[in-house]
Amino acid sequence: MKIVIATGGGDAPGLNAVIKGAVSSGLTKGFQMYGSRRGFGGLLGDARIIRLKSKNVRGIIHQGGTILGTTNRGNPFRWPLLGLDGKWREEDRSAELAAVFRERGFDCLIAIGGDGTLAITQKLSELGLPVIGVPKTIDNDVGATDVTFGFDTAVSIATEALDRVHTTAESHERVLVVEVMGRNAGWIALHSGLAGGADVILIPEIPYDIESVCKKVRDREARGIPFSIVVVAEGAAPKDGGVSLRDPGEPGGVERLGGIAELVANAIHAKTGKETRTLTLGHLLRGGSPTTFDRLLAVRFGAAAVRAAERGEFGKMVTFAGQEVLTMPIKDGIGQLKTVPLGADTVQTARDLGVCLGDG
Ligand code: F6P
Repeated sequence: MKIVIATGGGDAPGLNAVIKGAVSSGLTKGFQMYGSRRGFGGLLGDARIIRLKSKNVRGIIHQGGTILGTTNRGNPFRWPLLGLDGKWREEDRSAELAAVFRERGFDCLIAIGGDGTLAITQKLSELGLPVIGVPKTIDNDVGATDVTFGFDTAVSIATEALDRVHTTAESHERVLVVEVMGRNAGWIALHSGLAGGADVILIPEIPYDIESVCKKVRDREARGIPFSIVVVAEGAAPKDGGVSLRDPGEPGGVERLGGIAELVANAIHAKTGKETRTLTLGHLLRGGSPTTFDRLLAVRFGAAAVRAAERGEFGKMVTFAGQEVLTMPIKDGIGQLKTVPLGADTVQTARDLGVCLGDG
C-alpha cells in the first residue's frame, strides 16, 4: 500500500507519536509511507509531499508539534484565497486534492485532526477517497473517543502551573486567575483545577455568577486564608453575558477565544478589593513533550490506523473506548461536541471539596 499522512488543525502533543506509530508499522508491513506537509497543503501542491522512511521518524515519539507541520486554515472545501482586490474569498479545491491523491497513486489518506479536520476527512471520503481518521485535540471534546491524546499533557502542564502560582499567590495574599484553553469544553480547567487544588473553577458548561466567585474569595479571607486560585476555561461565560473573544480569527480560520481571566480578575478586584493577577497559559499547554499516557495512546492510534487501512476499513476513524483502541465510521464520530456532563463525578468531587464552580 501507499499511504499518505496529514496533520490538520491546531497541534497537540502526541502528533509525532501517531506519525511514528503509523510510519513504523506501515514500513514493517512493507507499505510505502508519505507525509503531506502543512495539513492538506501537500496534496494541493501548496506544500511538499515527503517520503517517510525509518530515519524520518527515528527519535520523534517524545517530540511535541508535528514534523509534517499543520494549519487551521487548511480546509480544501473552503480554501482561503487573497484576491487582487485585497479581499479574502474561499475556493473549493477538493477536486484538485482528489486528483493529486490519485495521480500520486495513494491507496489511503490518514488524516489526524480534531472535529473540524475529521469533518473534512468525512467529506473527502464522500468524494470517494479512501481515508482513515485519527482524533486529536488537547480540548478532549471529540465525542467519539473517551479521550484524545494531548489532553493529558495539557492537564499536566496546567496542574504544574497551578502548583507554582500557589506559592506566589500565598506570599502576596493575592487572587491569581489562571486561564486555560479548551475552547467550548471545560475538561482542561476542571481536571487541572481539581488536581492543582484550585479554589474556584469556571467552565463553559456552568455559566458563572461573579458574586458566587467573590463570596468564595471573601469566605477564605474570613477563615484567615488571604489568597485564592481561580482557574477559568477560555470558553467560560458569566450567566448574564457571552464568551470573551480575542479576535474573529484569520480568514478561513475560526474565532479565537481569550481574555476571560482579565474580566474575572477585574471583577473580583472591583467587588472585593483584593489584589488580583492573571496568567494565560495559552499555547504552553500544547507545546513540548507528550506525557507517557499521550505517547502511548498516540502510537497505538497510529498503528491502529494502518491496520484499519490494511483491512480496507475506509471512512472509519480510530477511537479509544474503555481501554481498547477501536474503529467507527467517521460520519458517526463527528459533530458530537463532548462537554463536561454536569453529573460527572469530577464535578461532584469539586463540589464535595468545597470548590466554587461559579453557580453556588
Ligand atoms: O483546539 C485546540 C486549541 O488549542 C483550543 O484550546 C484553542 O481555543 C485553540 O486551539 C487555539 O487555536 P490557535 O492555535 O489558532 O491559537
